Amino acid sequence: MKWTRREMAELAGAALWIPGCASHRRPEPRLLRSRVALPAQFSASLPRIPTLKPSMFLSDRDRYELTARPATAQILPGLTTEIWGFNGMFPGPTIEARSGGRISLRLANALPVPVVNHLHGGRTPPESDGYPTDFLLPAAGFPQSHMHDPLARVVTGQREYVYPNLQRAATLWYHDHRMDFTAPQVWRGLAGFYILRDEEELRLPLPRGDKEIALLICDRSFNADGSFLYPSLDPSLRDQPGVPHEYMGGVLGDVVLVNGAPWPKLEVANTKYRLRVLNASNARRYELALDTGRPVAQIGSDGGLLAAPLTHRSVRMSPAERFDLIVDFSHYAPGTKITLLNQAGEGTAAQIMQFHVTRTEKDDSAIPTKLAEIAAPNPADAVVTRVFDFSYRFSYQGTQGWSINKKGYDPGRMDARPKLDATEIWRLQSDFSHPLHLHLVHFQVLSHSGRPGPYDAGWKDTVSLFPGQTVNILVKFSGYRGRYVFHCHNLEHEDMAMMANFEVV
Ligand code: C2O
Ligand code: CU
Repeated sequence: MKWTRREMAELAGAALWIPGCASHRRPEPRLLRSRVALPAQFSASLPRIPTLKPSMFLSDRDRYELTARPATAQILPGLTTEIWGFNGMFPGPTIEARSGGRISLRLANALPVPVVNHLHGGRTPPESDGYPTDFLLPAAGFPQSHMHDPLARVVTGQREYVYPNLQRAATLWYHDHRMDFTAPQVWRGLAGFYILRDEEELRLPLPRGDKEIALLICDRSFNADGSFLYPSLDPSLRDQPGVPHEYMGGVLGDVVLVNGAPWPKLEVANTKYRLRVLNASNARRYELALDTGRPVAQIGSDGGLLAAPLTHRSVRMSPAERFDLIVDFSHYAPGTKITLLNQAGEGTAAQIMQFHVTRTEKDDSAIPTKLAEIAAPNPADAVVTRVFDFSYRFSYQGTQGWSINKKGYDPGRMDARPKLDATEIWRLQSDFSHPLHLHLVHFQVLSHSGRPGPYDAGWKDTVSLFPGQTVNILVKFSGYRGRYVFHCHNLEHEDMAMMANFEVV
Protein backbone atom coordinates (compact mmCIF):
# COMPACT_ATOMS: atom_id res chain seq x y z
CA MET A 1 0.00 0.00 0.00
CA LYS A 2 1.59 3.26 -1.11
CA TRP A 3 0.86 6.72 0.13
CA THR A 4 -1.17 8.90 -2.18
CA ARG A 5 0.44 12.13 -3.38
CA ARG A 6 -1.90 14.08 -1.17
CA GLU A 7 -0.86 12.07 1.86
CA MET A 8 2.80 12.47 0.95
CA ALA A 9 2.39 16.21 0.61
CA GLU A 10 0.71 16.32 3.97
CA LEU A 11 3.43 14.25 5.61
CA ALA A 12 6.13 16.42 4.10
CA GLY A 13 4.47 19.41 5.67
CA ALA A 14 3.62 20.98 2.33
CA ALA A 15 0.67 23.30 2.29
CA LEU A 16 -2.51 21.47 1.47
CA TRP A 17 -4.83 23.26 -0.85
CA ILE A 18 -8.37 23.29 0.42
CA PRO A 19 -10.92 24.07 -2.27
CA GLY A 20 -12.81 27.29 -1.72
CA CYS A 21 -11.11 27.96 1.55
CA ALA A 22 -7.86 29.77 0.82
CA SER A 23 -7.78 31.87 3.99
CA HIS A 24 -8.86 29.04 6.27
CA ARG A 25 -5.96 26.80 5.48
CA ARG A 26 -5.60 24.05 8.03
CA PRO A 27 -2.19 24.21 9.64
CA GLU A 28 0.07 21.32 8.71
CA PRO A 29 2.40 19.63 11.17
CA ARG A 30 5.52 21.76 11.00
CA LEU A 31 9.18 20.88 11.33
CA LEU A 32 11.01 22.63 14.13
CA ARG A 33 14.71 22.57 13.28
CA SER A 34 17.29 21.89 15.97
CA ARG A 35 19.77 24.66 16.73
CA VAL A 36 22.58 22.25 17.40
CA ALA A 37 24.69 20.02 15.16
CA LEU A 38 22.85 16.71 14.95
CA PRO A 39 24.64 13.60 16.21
CA ALA A 40 25.90 10.85 13.94
CA GLN A 41 23.33 8.21 13.14
CA PHE A 42 23.69 4.62 14.38
CA SER A 43 26.46 5.34 16.85
CA ALA A 44 24.54 5.41 20.15
CA SER A 45 23.46 2.01 21.49
CA LEU A 46 19.79 1.31 21.97
CA PRO A 47 19.04 1.93 25.65
CA ARG A 48 17.34 -0.89 27.52
CA ILE A 49 14.45 0.52 29.51
CA PRO A 50 14.52 -0.81 33.07
CA THR A 51 11.49 -2.62 34.45
CA LEU A 52 9.95 -1.12 37.56
CA LYS A 53 9.80 -3.38 40.61
CA PRO A 54 6.78 -3.26 42.91
CA SER A 55 7.45 -1.32 46.09
CA MET A 56 4.99 -3.35 48.11
CA PHE A 57 2.93 -6.54 47.79
CA LEU A 58 -0.49 -5.82 49.27
CA SER A 59 -3.18 -8.46 49.75
CA ASP A 60 -5.27 -7.24 46.82
CA ARG A 61 -2.62 -5.70 44.60
CA ASP A 62 1.03 -4.98 43.93
CA ARG A 63 1.93 -1.37 44.45
CA TYR A 64 4.37 0.51 42.22
CA GLU A 65 5.76 3.96 42.88
CA LEU A 66 6.87 6.66 40.50
CA THR A 67 7.84 10.28 40.92
CA ALA A 68 7.46 12.72 38.06
CA ARG A 69 10.47 14.99 38.38
CA PRO A 70 13.03 17.04 36.50
CA ALA A 71 16.31 15.31 35.70
CA THR A 72 19.11 15.49 33.19
CA ALA A 73 19.76 12.99 30.44
CA GLN A 74 22.65 12.41 28.02
CA ILE A 75 20.87 12.36 24.69
CA LEU A 76 23.28 14.27 22.44
CA PRO A 77 27.01 13.55 22.78
CA GLY A 78 28.73 16.04 25.06
CA LEU A 79 25.53 17.82 26.07
CA THR A 80 22.95 17.34 28.77
CA THR A 81 19.22 17.72 28.30
CA GLU A 82 16.84 18.61 31.06
CA ILE A 83 13.91 16.23 30.94
CA TRP A 84 10.75 15.76 32.94
CA GLY A 85 10.64 12.05 33.57
CA PHE A 86 8.96 9.38 35.62
CA ASN A 87 11.62 8.62 38.24
CA GLY A 88 13.69 11.12 36.29
CA MET A 89 13.87 8.82 33.25
CA PHE A 90 12.89 9.22 29.63
CA PRO A 91 11.27 6.92 28.68
CA GLY A 92 9.88 6.13 32.11
CA PRO A 93 10.53 2.67 33.58
CA THR A 94 8.47 -0.14 32.07
CA ILE A 95 5.66 -1.49 34.21
CA GLU A 96 4.98 -5.19 33.60
CA ALA A 97 1.75 -6.68 34.83
CA ARG A 98 -0.30 -9.83 34.38
CA SER A 99 -3.78 -9.92 32.97
CA GLY A 100 -6.17 -10.05 35.93
CA GLY A 101 -3.40 -9.09 38.36
CA ARG A 102 -4.47 -5.83 39.90
CA ILE A 103 -1.80 -3.23 40.57
CA SER A 104 -1.71 0.31 41.81
CA LEU A 105 0.60 3.11 40.89
CA ARG A 106 1.42 5.71 43.49
CA LEU A 107 2.57 8.76 41.62
CA ALA A 108 4.26 11.71 43.32
CA ASN A 109 4.57 15.05 41.56
CA ALA A 110 7.90 16.80 42.04
CA LEU A 111 7.46 18.98 38.94
CA PRO A 112 6.53 22.66 39.13
CA VAL A 113 3.24 22.06 37.27
CA PRO A 114 0.21 19.73 37.51
CA VAL A 115 0.43 16.28 35.94
CA VAL A 116 -2.19 13.69 35.07
CA ASN A 117 -1.27 10.10 34.36
CA HIS A 118 -3.21 8.13 31.74
CA LEU A 119 -2.74 4.43 31.04
CA HIS A 120 -3.25 4.42 27.29
CA GLY A 121 -5.08 1.26 26.24
CA GLY A 122 -6.04 0.44 29.80
CA ARG A 123 -9.55 -0.56 30.79
CA THR A 124 -9.44 1.57 33.88
CA PRO A 125 -12.10 2.79 36.35
CA PRO A 126 -12.85 6.49 35.74
CA GLU A 127 -11.23 7.74 38.94
CA SER A 128 -7.91 6.19 37.88
CA ASP A 129 -8.10 6.80 34.15
CA GLY A 130 -6.35 10.14 34.13
CA TYR A 131 -9.18 12.43 33.11
CA PRO A 132 -7.48 15.64 31.85
CA THR A 133 -8.69 17.80 34.74
CA ASP A 134 -7.98 15.22 37.46
CA PHE A 135 -4.84 17.13 38.32
CA LEU A 136 -2.13 15.86 40.56
CA LEU A 137 -0.77 19.20 41.73
CA PRO A 138 2.85 19.70 42.75
CA ALA A 139 3.58 18.98 46.40
CA ALA A 140 4.43 22.67 46.72
CA GLY A 141 0.93 23.57 45.47
CA PHE A 142 -0.12 25.36 42.32
CA PRO A 143 -2.01 28.64 42.18
CA GLN A 144 -3.69 28.65 38.80
CA SER A 145 -6.31 26.17 37.79
CA HIS A 146 -6.55 26.72 34.11
CA MET A 147 -10.04 25.45 33.54
CA HIS A 148 -12.74 25.03 36.09
CA ASP A 149 -14.33 21.58 36.09
CA PRO A 150 -16.61 20.87 39.05
CA LEU A 151 -16.27 17.12 38.51
CA ALA A 152 -12.48 17.17 38.61
CA ARG A 153 -10.77 15.11 41.28
CA VAL A 154 -7.80 17.30 42.14
CA VAL A 155 -5.19 16.18 44.65
CA THR A 156 -1.88 17.62 45.80
CA GLY A 157 1.47 15.86 46.10
CA GLN A 158 0.62 12.27 45.28
CA ARG A 159 -2.17 10.06 44.02
CA GLU A 160 -2.75 6.34 43.74
CA TYR A 161 -4.04 5.03 40.44
CA VAL A 162 -5.58 1.53 40.46
CA TYR A 163 -5.26 -0.67 37.37
CA PRO A 164 -7.38 -3.85 37.58
CA ASN A 165 -5.84 -5.23 34.34
CA LEU A 166 -9.04 -7.10 33.49
CA GLN A 167 -8.04 -7.27 29.83
CA ARG A 168 -5.88 -9.32 27.52
CA ALA A 169 -2.13 -9.10 27.04
CA ALA A 170 -1.09 -6.01 25.11
CA THR A 171 1.51 -3.29 24.76
CA LEU A 172 0.06 -0.32 26.63
CA TRP A 173 1.78 2.88 27.60
CA TYR A 174 1.40 5.55 30.22
CA HIS A 175 1.83 9.25 29.63
CA ASP A 176 0.92 12.67 30.92
CA HIS A 177 -2.57 13.93 30.07
CA ARG A 178 -2.74 17.36 31.70
CA MET A 179 -5.52 19.46 30.24
CA ASP A 180 -4.17 21.77 27.49
CA PHE A 181 -0.52 20.94 28.30
CA THR A 182 -0.14 17.29 27.27
CA ALA A 183 1.95 18.03 24.17
CA PRO A 184 4.78 19.97 25.87
CA GLN A 185 4.81 17.65 28.91
CA VAL A 186 5.09 14.49 26.85
CA TRP A 187 7.73 16.22 24.70
CA ARG A 188 9.77 16.75 27.88
CA GLY A 189 9.66 13.04 28.57
CA LEU A 190 6.55 11.97 30.51
CA ALA A 191 5.86 8.62 28.79
CA GLY A 192 6.67 4.96 29.36
CA PHE A 193 5.65 1.39 28.51
CA TYR A 194 3.14 -0.75 30.35
CA ILE A 195 3.30 -4.36 29.21
CA LEU A 196 0.49 -6.69 30.06
CA ARG A 197 1.02 -10.46 29.73
CA ASP A 198 -1.40 -13.39 29.85
CA GLU A 199 -1.39 -17.18 29.63
CA GLU A 200 -2.69 -17.31 26.08
CA GLU A 201 0.30 -15.33 24.88
CA LEU A 202 2.90 -16.95 27.14
CA ARG A 203 2.00 -20.36 25.67
CA LEU A 204 3.13 -19.26 22.22
CA PRO A 205 6.70 -19.88 21.02
CA LEU A 206 7.30 -16.19 20.26
CA PRO A 207 10.76 -14.65 20.71
CA ARG A 208 11.22 -13.69 24.36
CA GLY A 209 13.80 -12.61 26.89
CA ASP A 210 16.42 -10.42 25.23
CA LYS A 211 14.71 -11.09 21.88
CA GLU A 212 11.58 -9.25 22.90
CA ILE A 213 12.24 -5.53 22.79
CA ALA A 214 9.98 -2.55 23.29
CA LEU A 215 10.82 0.43 21.06
CA LEU A 216 9.45 3.84 21.94
CA ILE A 217 9.89 6.03 18.88
CA CYS A 218 9.53 9.80 19.04
CA ASP A 219 10.93 12.86 17.35
CA ARG A 220 12.43 15.80 19.21
CA SER A 221 14.35 18.99 18.47
CA PHE A 222 17.14 20.56 20.49
CA ASN A 223 18.52 23.96 21.37
CA ALA A 224 22.22 24.79 21.01
CA ASP A 225 22.79 23.94 24.69
CA GLY A 226 21.22 20.50 24.27
CA SER A 227 17.90 21.37 25.91
CA PHE A 228 14.65 20.28 24.25
CA LEU A 229 13.30 22.84 21.81
CA TYR A 230 9.51 23.26 21.77
CA PRO A 231 7.50 26.33 20.76
CA SER A 232 5.35 26.75 23.90
CA LEU A 233 3.74 30.17 24.23
CA ASP A 234 4.53 29.92 27.93
CA PRO A 235 7.72 27.87 28.41
CA SER A 236 7.08 27.61 32.16
CA LEU A 237 3.92 25.63 31.26
CA ARG A 238 2.21 27.30 34.18
CA ASP A 239 -0.26 29.61 32.61
CA GLN A 240 -0.92 30.00 28.95
CA PRO A 241 -1.30 26.79 26.93
CA GLY A 242 -0.59 26.32 23.27
CA VAL A 243 1.89 27.03 20.52
CA PRO A 244 2.05 29.79 17.88
CA HIS A 245 -0.40 29.48 15.04
CA GLU A 246 2.14 28.04 12.60
CA TYR A 247 2.64 25.03 14.89
CA MET A 248 -1.04 24.35 15.53
CA GLY A 249 -0.97 21.51 13.04
CA GLY A 250 1.57 19.71 15.20
CA VAL A 251 5.25 19.95 16.07
CA LEU A 252 7.74 17.74 14.23
CA GLY A 253 11.30 17.24 15.46
CA ASP A 254 14.34 16.55 13.28
CA VAL A 255 15.93 13.99 15.63
CA VAL A 256 14.39 10.52 15.83
CA LEU A 257 14.82 8.98 19.27
CA VAL A 258 14.32 5.32 20.05
CA ASN A 259 14.06 4.64 23.79
CA GLY A 260 15.54 8.08 24.27
CA ALA A 261 18.64 7.69 22.06
CA PRO A 262 19.11 9.33 18.65
CA TRP A 263 19.03 6.85 15.73
CA PRO A 264 20.51 4.06 17.86
CA LYS A 265 22.01 0.75 16.84
CA LEU A 266 21.25 -2.65 18.30
CA GLU A 267 23.43 -5.72 18.02
CA VAL A 268 21.34 -8.79 17.26
CA ALA A 269 21.75 -12.52 16.67
CA ASN A 270 20.61 -14.00 13.36
CA THR A 271 17.29 -15.07 14.83
CA LYS A 272 13.76 -13.74 15.07
CA TYR A 273 13.10 -10.74 17.32
CA ARG A 274 9.83 -9.46 18.65
CA LEU A 275 9.65 -5.67 18.46
CA ARG A 276 6.84 -3.93 20.31
CA VAL A 277 6.84 -0.60 18.52
CA LEU A 278 5.11 2.48 19.93
CA ASN A 279 4.83 5.77 18.10
CA ALA A 280 5.07 8.15 21.07
CA SER A 281 5.57 11.22 18.88
CA ASN A 282 3.42 14.30 19.28
CA ALA A 283 2.49 14.63 15.62
CA ARG A 284 4.82 12.60 13.42
CA ARG A 285 3.64 9.61 11.43
CA TYR A 286 6.07 6.92 10.36
CA GLU A 287 6.14 4.31 7.66
CA LEU A 288 8.52 1.67 8.97
CA ALA A 289 10.42 -0.48 6.50
CA LEU A 290 13.69 -2.42 6.41
CA ASP A 291 16.22 -1.12 3.91
CA THR A 292 16.74 -4.70 2.71
CA GLY A 293 13.21 -4.65 1.31
CA ARG A 294 12.24 -7.73 3.30
CA PRO A 295 8.80 -7.76 4.88
CA VAL A 296 8.06 -7.95 8.58
CA ALA A 297 5.35 -9.96 10.30
CA GLN A 298 2.75 -8.22 12.42
CA ILE A 299 1.48 -10.30 15.32
CA GLY A 300 -0.31 -7.67 17.36
CA SER A 301 -1.79 -4.22 17.46
CA ASP A 302 -2.88 -1.73 20.14
CA GLY A 303 -5.06 -4.25 21.95
CA GLY A 304 -2.82 -7.33 21.81
CA LEU A 305 -2.33 -10.32 19.53
CA LEU A 306 -4.05 -10.58 16.16
CA ALA A 307 -5.97 -13.76 15.30
CA ALA A 308 -3.25 -14.62 12.77
CA PRO A 309 -0.04 -12.95 11.65
CA LEU A 310 0.04 -10.49 8.77
CA THR A 311 2.92 -9.58 6.50
CA HIS A 312 3.81 -6.00 5.62
CA ARG A 313 6.48 -4.48 3.40
CA SER A 314 6.02 -1.31 5.40
CA VAL A 315 4.04 -0.36 8.48
CA ARG A 316 2.33 2.98 8.82
CA MET A 317 2.06 4.27 12.35
CA SER A 318 0.24 7.32 13.63
CA PRO A 319 0.90 8.81 17.05
CA ALA A 320 -0.08 6.48 19.93
CA GLU A 321 -0.45 3.36 17.77
CA ARG A 322 1.41 0.17 18.67
CA PHE A 323 2.51 -2.56 16.30
CA ASP A 324 3.84 -5.85 17.57
CA LEU A 325 6.27 -7.03 14.90
CA ILE A 326 8.53 -10.00 14.28
CA VAL A 327 11.70 -9.31 12.32
CA ASP A 328 13.62 -12.35 11.16
CA PHE A 329 17.36 -11.70 11.03
CA SER A 330 18.17 -15.27 9.91
CA HIS A 331 18.20 -13.98 6.34
CA TYR A 332 21.38 -12.06 7.07
CA ALA A 333 24.95 -13.15 7.64
CA PRO A 334 26.85 -11.85 10.66
CA GLY A 335 28.33 -8.49 9.75
CA THR A 336 25.17 -7.29 8.02
CA LYS A 337 23.72 -3.94 9.01
CA ILE A 338 20.02 -3.41 8.45
CA THR A 339 18.50 0.04 8.71
CA LEU A 340 14.96 0.61 9.89
CA LEU A 341 13.71 3.37 7.62
CA ASN A 342 10.90 5.83 7.93
CA GLN A 343 9.55 5.96 4.39
CA ALA A 344 7.22 8.77 5.41
CA GLY A 345 10.08 10.96 6.59
CA GLU A 346 12.40 13.34 4.87
CA GLY A 347 16.01 14.22 5.60
CA THR A 348 17.13 13.10 9.03
CA ALA A 349 13.64 11.78 9.82
CA ALA A 350 13.91 9.17 7.07
CA GLN A 351 15.97 6.83 9.29
CA ILE A 352 15.02 5.38 12.66
CA MET A 353 17.63 2.90 13.87
CA GLN A 354 19.99 0.16 12.74
CA PHE A 355 20.36 -3.53 13.55
CA HIS A 356 23.83 -5.06 13.43
CA VAL A 357 23.82 -8.83 13.05
CA THR A 358 26.83 -9.82 15.13
CA ARG A 359 26.37 -13.48 15.98
CA THR A 360 24.74 -16.75 15.02
CA GLU A 361 22.45 -18.45 17.46
CA LYS A 362 19.96 -21.27 17.43
CA ASP A 363 16.42 -20.00 17.08
CA ASP A 364 13.70 -21.99 18.80
CA SER A 365 11.06 -19.32 18.41
CA ALA A 366 8.31 -19.48 15.79
CA ILE A 367 5.43 -17.42 14.48
CA PRO A 368 2.34 -19.59 14.93
CA THR A 369 -0.20 -19.40 12.11
CA LYS A 370 -2.91 -19.01 14.72
CA LEU A 371 -2.10 -16.51 17.44
CA ALA A 372 -5.21 -15.81 19.49
CA GLU A 373 -8.93 -16.11 19.81
CA ILE A 374 -10.61 -12.80 18.94
CA ALA A 375 -14.17 -12.61 20.23
CA ALA A 376 -15.23 -9.51 18.33
CA PRO A 377 -18.72 -8.08 18.74
CA ASN A 378 -21.17 -8.48 15.90
CA PRO A 379 -21.99 -5.33 13.87
CA ALA A 380 -25.62 -6.48 13.85
CA ASP A 381 -25.69 -5.96 17.63
CA ALA A 382 -24.94 -2.24 17.34
CA VAL A 383 -27.75 -0.25 18.95
CA VAL A 384 -26.81 3.13 17.53
CA THR A 385 -24.53 4.78 14.99
CA ARG A 386 -22.98 8.03 16.16
CA VAL A 387 -21.26 10.40 13.77
CA PHE A 388 -18.27 12.48 14.82
CA ASP A 389 -16.74 15.01 12.54
CA PHE A 390 -13.15 16.09 13.20
CA SER A 391 -12.31 19.42 11.71
CA TYR A 392 -10.42 22.66 12.00
CA ARG A 393 -12.40 25.60 13.40
CA PHE A 394 -11.63 29.17 14.20
CA SER A 395 -12.93 29.20 17.72
CA TYR A 396 -11.26 28.02 20.87
CA GLN A 397 -11.01 30.32 23.84
CA GLY A 398 -10.94 33.28 21.50
CA THR A 399 -8.30 31.73 19.27
CA GLN A 400 -8.09 29.01 16.65
CA GLY A 401 -8.58 25.41 17.51
CA TRP A 402 -9.52 21.94 16.36
CA SER A 403 -13.01 20.65 16.89
CA ILE A 404 -15.20 17.58 17.13
CA ASN A 405 -18.68 18.09 15.68
CA LYS A 406 -17.81 21.79 15.39
CA LYS A 407 -17.20 22.14 19.11
CA GLY A 408 -14.04 22.56 21.11
CA TYR A 409 -13.42 20.51 24.21
CA ASP A 410 -15.46 21.35 27.27
CA PRO A 411 -15.26 19.07 30.34
CA GLY A 412 -18.80 20.14 31.20
CA ARG A 413 -20.41 18.85 28.00
CA MET A 414 -21.29 15.19 27.47
CA ASP A 415 -21.09 14.19 23.82
CA ALA A 416 -22.25 10.57 24.02
CA ARG A 417 -23.87 8.38 26.68
CA PRO A 418 -23.40 4.74 25.72
CA LYS A 419 -24.95 2.12 28.00
CA LEU A 420 -22.63 -0.23 29.84
CA ASP A 421 -21.97 -3.28 27.63
CA ALA A 422 -23.81 -1.75 24.66
CA THR A 423 -22.30 -2.16 21.22
CA GLU A 424 -22.22 0.94 19.02
CA ILE A 425 -20.92 1.99 15.64
CA TRP A 426 -19.01 5.26 15.61
CA ARG A 427 -18.53 6.90 12.25
CA LEU A 428 -15.45 9.10 12.39
CA GLN A 429 -15.04 11.65 9.63
CA SER A 430 -12.15 13.99 9.13
CA ASP A 431 -11.05 16.92 7.07
CA PHE A 432 -7.44 16.24 7.78
CA SER A 433 -5.06 13.73 9.35
CA HIS A 434 -6.12 12.77 12.83
CA PRO A 435 -5.21 9.70 14.93
CA LEU A 436 -8.36 9.16 16.99
CA HIS A 437 -8.26 7.54 20.39
CA LEU A 438 -10.97 6.38 22.77
CA HIS A 439 -10.24 5.82 26.42
CA LEU A 440 -11.55 2.70 28.25
CA VAL A 441 -12.32 0.57 25.18
CA HIS A 442 -10.74 -1.32 22.35
CA PHE A 443 -12.62 -1.48 19.09
CA GLN A 444 -12.69 -3.18 15.71
CA VAL A 445 -12.31 -1.11 12.57
CA LEU A 446 -15.18 -2.05 10.25
CA SER A 447 -14.16 0.07 7.30
CA HIS A 448 -11.68 2.75 6.38
CA SER A 449 -13.19 4.79 3.57
CA GLY A 450 -15.21 1.84 2.43
CA ARG A 451 -12.63 -0.93 2.65
CA PRO A 452 -10.67 -2.54 5.46
CA GLY A 453 -7.41 -0.69 6.05
CA PRO A 454 -4.15 -2.69 5.92
CA TYR A 455 -3.14 -1.52 9.41
CA ASP A 456 -6.50 -1.86 11.13
CA ALA A 457 -6.37 -5.53 12.11
CA GLY A 458 -7.12 -6.72 15.62
CA TRP A 459 -8.17 -4.66 18.60
CA LYS A 460 -7.43 -0.98 18.24
CA ASP A 461 -7.66 1.97 20.60
CA THR A 462 -6.29 4.51 18.15
CA VAL A 463 -7.20 4.68 14.49
CA SER A 464 -5.54 6.82 11.88
CA LEU A 465 -7.68 9.05 9.68
CA PHE A 466 -6.37 10.71 6.56
CA PRO A 467 -7.85 13.80 4.91
CA GLY A 468 -11.39 13.23 3.79
CA GLN A 469 -11.63 9.70 5.17
CA THR A 470 -14.51 8.09 7.01
CA VAL A 471 -13.80 5.26 9.41
CA ASN A 472 -16.47 3.08 10.99
CA ILE A 473 -15.53 1.46 14.24
CA LEU A 474 -17.43 -1.13 16.27
CA VAL A 475 -17.16 -0.48 19.99
CA LYS A 476 -18.51 -2.38 22.95
CA PHE A 477 -18.54 -0.15 26.04
CA SER A 478 -17.60 -2.72 28.66
CA GLY A 479 -15.72 -2.15 31.84
CA TYR A 480 -16.88 0.70 34.03
CA ARG A 481 -19.53 3.38 34.19
CA GLY A 482 -18.31 6.93 34.23
CA ARG A 483 -16.87 9.84 32.33
CA TYR A 484 -14.07 9.32 29.80
CA VAL A 485 -12.60 11.25 26.89
CA PHE A 486 -11.99 10.54 23.24
CA HIS A 487 -9.69 12.76 21.26
CA CYS A 488 -7.20 13.26 18.51
CA HIS A 489 -3.78 11.92 19.54
CA ASN A 490 -1.87 14.48 17.55
CA LEU A 491 -0.97 16.10 20.87
CA GLU A 492 -1.04 19.66 19.55
CA HIS A 493 -4.55 19.04 18.17
CA GLU A 494 -5.55 17.48 21.49
CA ASP A 495 -4.28 20.47 23.47
CA MET A 496 -6.04 22.77 21.04
CA ALA A 497 -9.48 21.38 21.90
CA MET A 498 -9.87 18.28 19.72
CA MET A 499 -11.32 16.26 22.56
CA ALA A 500 -14.80 15.31 23.76
CA ASN A 501 -16.49 13.31 26.52
CA PHE A 502 -18.46 10.13 26.67
CA GLU A 503 -20.13 8.76 29.74
CA VAL A 504 -20.83 5.07 30.13
CA VAL A 505 -24.18 4.87 31.92
CU1 C2O B 1 -2.71 8.35 24.90
CU2 C2O B 1 -6.09 10.30 25.99
O1 C2O B 1 -4.38 9.34 25.46
CU1 CU C 1 -5.95 15.77 14.94
